[in-house]
Amino acid sequence: MTPIRLGIVGLGRLGMEHARTLRFGVPGVRLAAVCSTVRDEVTRARSELDVPAGYVEYERMIAEAELDGVVIASSSAAHTDQIVGAIEAGLHVFCEKPLGTTIEQCRRAEAVVTAHPEQRFMLGFMRRYDSSYRYAVQRIRSGAIGEPFLVRAYGLDPDRFAAGAIRFAATSGGIFLDMMIHDIDLARWLLRSEVRMVHAIGGNFKHQAFGEVGDVDNATALMQFDDNAMGLFYVGRTAAHGYHVETEIVGTEGAIRIDGVPRSTRAVVYTGAGVGEPIVQSFPERFAEAFRNEFLEFAACIREARSPEVTVHDGVRATTVAHAATESLRARTAIDVRYR
Ligand code: NAI
Repeated sequence: MTPIRLGIVGLGRLGMEHARTLRFGVPGVRLAAVCSTVRDEVTRARSELDVPAGYVEYERMIAEAELDGVVIASSSAAHTDQIVGAIEAGLHVFCEKPLGTTIEQCRRAEAVVTAHPEQRFMLGFMRRYDSSYRYAVQRIRSGAIGEPFLVRAYGLDPDRFAAGAIRFAATSGGIFLDMMIHDIDLARWLLRSEVRMVHAIGGNFKHQAFGEVGDVDNATALMQFDDNAMGLFYVGRTAAHGYHVETEIVGTEGAIRIDGVPRSTRAVVYTGAGVGEPIVQSFPERFAEAFRNEFLEFAACIREARSPEVTVHDGVRATTVAHAATESLRARTAIDVRYR
């Protein structure tokens, strides 16, 4: 089997995890090049992962390295230009969320991707590739909980990551685009319906520094979907206990909960201090399997010339909802979501 040659751009918190997964965890893929504007990251990645080529300029990587596709894990504001550059160079593209930080960027990416249907494009909504979420969707589709009408979702980062998140906040697009977008995508997928109204509130309850770049450290949103289904969302960056992604889907005949207590093992520790359960501490720990599964799927889609389930249109829709939530927070009112 001829290996699929991929280059990765972005070697930060997530990019380096992805680079390791591509190098060691995805049969049939060869990590052929790495790129970051930070030269030290390129040097470190090349030596740790034994990658043949490294670049500090993305344009040079896609022009010079012999690639079949790219994985984009750079800062969110750089995604659209890099998608357009790669697609126009004839490459397949896997891009991390969000598709872009503005609706205009997303539309530009959508137009270019749609104009090149022979090239695969996949967006990194990896929770759809997690085995618990896949099981939940399979049970919902088979009617196990009747007609689903409510999604309740929590997405909480540990407080000890707050300093990093504050540095990242200026380019992240804000808490709804950076964090809640995963829950928005999940709810659309689980309910098979689009958001038509959002009312968001939030504030800086622990780290005022988020406010200096117009962001908040905790936020909630109430959403209504086209079929009147409801969404209750809470995202935060100050969780004391760890990384907590929890989802509940309620239907007319039952409910499914995923990770009400985000346990990292099945062990329960009984001591004089009480009874404790170890908790997941980071997104790579919680979603390692999903990150690998989405790359397996991306590679399979390239090989089999078929389209991934997560499309560029999902990116546009989820970004539109995240922007409406941001607008709602600022305007202090409910916002109707308009997709065109
Ligand atoms: P980071 O700030 O740690 O790393 C960004 C990397 O991109 C750095 O290596 C930087 O040098 C590089 N970079 C930035 N602009 C570039 C450019 N124009 N050309 C080449 N390299 C460039 O950021 P982090 O946390 O790794 O996030 C990266 C992306 O992944 C973001 O879009 C973020 O939204 C997404 N992400 C997704 C997660 C998920 O759960 N799916 C989790 C964490 C991040």
